[in-house]
Amino acid sequence: MERTLILIKPDGVARGLVGQILARIEAKGYAIDALSLRTATADELSAHYAEHEGKPFYQPLVDFMSEGPIVSLIASGQGVIPGFRSLAGATDPTAAAPGTIRGDLGRDWGEKVQKNLVHGSDSTESAEREVGIWFPA
Ligand code: CMP
Repeated sequence: MERTLILIKPDGVARGLVGQILARIEAKGYAIDALSLRTATADELSAHYAEHEGKPFYQPLVDFMSEGPIVSLIASGQGVIPGFRSLAGATDPTAAAPGTIRGDLGRDWGEKVQKNLVHGSDSTESAEREVGIWFPA
């Protein structure tokens, strides 16, 4: 069964949006197969964001992702990889369409990093790599 790795970032947890975000994933019909709430380690973040190393937003992104607890989860279902990414909406919450998680619940907070509430794997290869980072067992 197709599966994806989803993160509810520290802004989503701090704003008390975990329940709403999980409800949208479940309402869409995807199964939640694993779930954890904890603060990410530096190793997990450098592995997860390896492709962004060297970009101007890399350090602000890692700092933001270390600010507080995150929820990591594995969701499954046919088409869950593109399906969750359309549920999440565009990376920039200002541009994200209404009806999406970022479009309805996110905005520009005037900071160097885009606090955009959630992450979802962008391909089968990324999903398997990211599941291995966040759920090594
Ligand atoms: P995510 O899906 O976790 O992938 C990389 C993250 O980097 C992205 O969500 C945003 O939080 C952040 N990001 C991507 N592009 C930019 C940008 N141009 N400026 C600031 N942050 C960004």
